[in-house]
Formats: sequence, C-alpha cells, structure tokens
Amino acid sequence: MASGKEVKKIDRAKELILKNSGLFRCPVCERELGISRSNSLYCSKGHNYDLAKQGYINLLLKQEKGGYDKQLFAARKVISDSGFFDPMRKALSKLIREIGKGEGWSEVRILDAGCGEGSHLAWIWRDLKAKKTGFADLTGVGIDLSKEGIRVAAKEHRDIIWCVADLTKLPLQNQQFDLVLNILSPANYGEFKRVLKEHGILVKLLPTADYLIELRELLFKGTDKELYENDSVKKHFANSFQLVKEQQINYKVLLKEENLEHLIKMTPLTWNADQEKIAMIINSGLKSITVAFDLLVGKK
Ligand SMILES: C[S@@+](CC[C@H](N)C(=O)[O-])C[C@H]1O[C@@H](n2cnc3c(N)ncnc32)[C@H](O)[C@@H]1O
Ligand SMILES: [Zn+2]
Repeated sequence: MASGKEVKKIDRAKELILKNSGLFRCPVCERELGISRSNSLYCSKGHNYDLAKQGYINLLLKQEKGGYDKQLFAARKVISDSGFFDPMRKALSKLIREIGKGEGWSEVRILDAGCGEGSHLAWIWRDLKAKKTGFADLTGVGIDLSKEGIRVAAKEHRDIIWCVADLTKLPLQNQQFDLVLNILSPANYGEFKRVLKEHGILVKLLPTADYLIELRELLFKGTDKELYENDSVKKHFANSFQLVKEQQINYKVLLKEENLEHLIKMTPLTWNADQEKIAMIINSGLKSITVAFDLLVGKK
C-alpha cells in the first residue's frame, strides 16, 4: 500500500496535470489525454498510462536503457547541490526574466527537454517564483528519456510536472509552451517548433571547448578527443531557428576533494575511461575546474 507521503505526491502531480489539461497527447494515436479518477491518463481510443505513485507520468512506449543510469544521476545531483551549476542557472533565470518582460508573458509554461534529474528546471522555477517577473502563473514541465532521472526529479521537486518521454516524439499537444529549455541534451528542432507557441522561444545551452577542460586534458591528452568544438551544433541550431541572441557563460569552480569522484561519475566524458585513468584523475589533486557554456536563443 502507498504511504501517506507517496499519496500526496501522486495527488500533487494529478493536480498539476488537471490544471494544465489538454497539455499531453497519446504517444500511440496522438489524441488528447485526459486524466481519470483512478489516476491514469487516457485517450478516446482507450490507451492508458498510469500516474506513478512517486508523482510522474511515463509516456515512453519502449523503455530505453541508455548510458544515463541511477549512479550517474545520483552523482549529478551531488554536483548540482554543491552549487556547481548555480552561475549558469542564475544566467538562465535572468535571461528568462528579460525575455518574458520583452514578450509580455503572463501565464508562462516552460518545457525542459532532456531535463535529467530535474534540478536545473526546479532551481530556475523557484528563482523565477521568488523574483518579480510579472508572470501571473508559471508552470514547469520536465521530460527525459531516463526513468531513473525522472524518478530523482519527482522525488525532489513536487511543483513541476515530470514525464518520462522521448524528445524526438514529444507526447505533447501543439503550441503549448512559451519557452523550451534544452540544457546539455540532444535536440529535435521540429518537435520543439511544434510544441512552442507562435512567438515561443528556444534556449539551448551547450558546452564549449573549455568545459571541464582540465578533465579532458587528463583523459585525452595527445588523442583526437582532446579538442572539442561545438560549431556543427551551433550551425544546426541556426539552420532550424532564427538565432536572436548568443551569450557565453564562463566560470571556475573550486572542487572539494570528495566531489572530484562525483564529477568523474557525472560526465559522459569518462564513460569509456579505464580504471587506471580514473584513479590517475582522482590522485591528480585537481582543485579547480572550468565551466564554459554557449547559450543560444532562438525564435521560430
Ligand atoms: C548530459 S545529460 C543532461 C541532463 C540535464 N539537462 C543536465 O544538464 O543535468 C543529457 C540528458 O539527455 C537525455 N536524453 C537523451 N536522449 C533523449 C531523448 N531522445 N529524449 C529525452 N531525453 C533524452 C538523457 O537521458 C540525459 O538525461
Ligand atoms: Zn491513444
């Protein structure tokens, strides 16, 4: 039987979905999804999706086994909680406030496509709620292919709608969002355009060549992986959306000794590294690490 805490989570998720009725569409037949008394989402063709007691919805037809596992999201959460991403989040929140003011947004809906364990969206949602934005309402929706990531998100943050789904086939109705965030994740510009409102905005955050450069050097010195460039990603963005703004975010983070291991676990950079290399990095005494992103803002 579900505990009291779990019941509350599912009720909160249901409340948010009801408030945003008409948001989801069936991943099989693309008809609108409603929500039943027995806590499942359903379409008029009879396809059903249960709301998980942990407070998220799974609209993925075939569960994926990707490289992002429970351990990685746990490590990513420790690094997130240590303030590692805070300057980046602050920059994003400020940018959203500026855009919202310029566009005269009122009832604002934000989608984080590829939200992982959800802490960026939750942080930004809370920051926007705490600041004077002029928004009459603010709804956050986080989707990710990884059930592990969404489970962590739902456990930690109950004010956001969390959904396991594929961003290349979003189970969302057309023209629902003022803003799509796409943070360090793959993109599908056709789908982003479809779910954005007519004047909606896409904000994409991508790593630059300097992101975690100290780790990259230790791992790949002398190989073709030592250098990374994001030109092709930027080009693809500019071919799909009208690029209206580009901004760099650069800072250094002082690493606590115990966080180096979490950092190593959290980044796909180390996925194929052997144990010897990992031990070498841990023993390297790395004290400070570079965080460097490009922020791209696009209109349809
Ligand atoms: C590097 S992680 C970034 C996660 C989060 N945005 C962050 O910055 O912490 C990339 C994320 O993209 C997700 N992802 C990859 N392909 C996806 C797809 N087709 N649909 C939804 N999410 C996807 C992964 O599961 C993973 O959580
Ligand atoms: Zn259906």
